[in-house]
Amino acid sequence: MIQSLAIVGGQWGDEGKGKIVDCLSDSADAVVRFQGGHNAGHTLVAGGKKVIVHLIPAGILRQQVTAYIGNGVVLSIDALRGEIDHLESHLGSIVDRVKISEDCALLLPSHAALDQAREAKKGNQAIGTTSRGIGPAYEDKVARRGLKLHDLNDLKSVQAKAEELLDYHNYLLTNFYRQKAVDSGKIISDLVSASEWLVPMMTDVSSEVNSLMVQNKKVLFEGAQGVMLDIDHGTYPFVTSSNTGIGAVGTGAGIAPSKIDHVLAIVKAYTTRVGSGPFPTELHDGVGAHIAKAGAEFGATTGRPRRCGWFDAVLVRRAHQLNNFDGLCLTKLDVLDGLETIRVCTGYRTADSELLNSSGNAWCLQRCEPIYEDLPGWQEDTLGIRNYDQLPVNARYYLDRITELTGVPVDVISTGPDRAHLIYRPSISGW
Ligand code: GDP
Ligand code: IMO
Ligand code: MG
Repeated sequence: MIQSLAIVGGQWGDEGKGKIVDCLSDSADAVVRFQGGHNAGHTLVAGGKKVIVHLIPAGILRQQVTAYIGNGVVLSIDALRGEIDHLESHLGSIVDRVKISEDCALLLPSHAALDQAREAKKGNQAIGTTSRGIGPAYEDKVARRGLKLHDLNDLKSVQAKAEELLDYHNYLLTNFYRQKAVDSGKIISDLVSASEWLVPMMTDVSSEVNSLMVQNKKVLFEGAQGVMLDIDHGTYPFVTSSNTGIGAVGTGAGIAPSKIDHVLAIVKAYTTRVGSGPFPTELHDGVGAHIAKAGAEFGATTGRPRRCGWFDAVLVRRAHQLNNFDGLCLTKLDVLDGLETIRVCTGYRTADSELLNSSGNAWCLQRCEPIYEDLPGWQEDTLGIRNYDQLPVNARYYLDRITELTGVPVDVISTGPDRAHLIYRPSISGW
């Protein structure tokens, strides 16, 4: 039996993690975010009603779930407040079910200003960040000059610490980036007034989650972004600023890695990415436009169009090497309905060799051309199919081929955006 389940994105984010976390939270007692921040956009559709979460774990939709935000997350208080208010308009009161690590690094409005100023200065070399301030917030954490949530326990000293940090940010904004300074006084007074509602939500997430595990409760760890956006293993520098793989559960939630029973990677039946950076299987033709339209591929956080391409087995094999996936969940199979041929990238060709494996860094990927295998498509409608045996024969062949090429079994198949549009294989059912 699986007691602790980790869900991570196996590509460049937006694989459908939110939907799958929501579905699997059905059996969970706790759901824990462990990295990233409100750059994430996880879309859930239940009975036709759509909800997007950014900071709060997607498991919040299930009334029995306690939603934890672990120490590895960078926490924007403004984003959190907005999200609580938004969710409460759908779900009623949730504050008693949201618990936040006292060790979370705080993301301030000046971090967003720095993110935007830096991107503007880079011009056409920009990373294409979500402009939420994620990179600058992690930088301050690592540089040991940032604020942590527990600083709000001492309002006098937090004001002094914030003042020093904001002085530094304003120096950069005005002198280096030639942008407007942020209003330090307002940021500090907002911090102080937020402490009233935030301090009661603060907890020692590591101790609480470990104790739930001792009591045999079911805990789900919800990854954000995807393995190819990882700061160390992704397409650097076109990445986010956190580790996005399974290792981050340990550091970002305070859980020993050996306590994770099962790692489920969410991958799309094709590939997408938002923002800049290499993308070997990207399509620039009518098929790419068709997939973007059929898959409604617009970012849940920024609304930007997502770049679309074929499934890249080299990247998913690399992600498996880094994370040792127990299973794959393949989402958006229905989006491929009606295509005559479906291509899968099985290897890369460079100027002097053919590769079955590749580092994910931008220097390597920019030099790679995909090698494709062509598979027959299917004309039948798969939207909403819930039984494996009802899938068209060519769709089942596609799934088998993905298992063979990645070395990971496809345990869950998603055939539409709604909660109900799902096929579980026995290994994960009811976990
Ligand atoms: P996440 O960031 O990994 O949670 O993914 P997003 O929510 O950003 O993007 C995934 C999008 O695909 C959302 O709009 C989902 O509602 C939608 N989606 C998820 N699974 C399926 C599926 O199997 N089929 C279709 N057509 N849409 C899906
Ligand atoms: P979810 O959890 C897709 C991308 C941005 C940009 C790069 C750096 O919804 O899958 P950042 O703001 O993090 O500094 O941006 O990372 N990015 C995502 N792409 N899904 C996400 O999250 C992403 N979060 C960040 O587009 O290319
Ligand atoms: Mg998303």
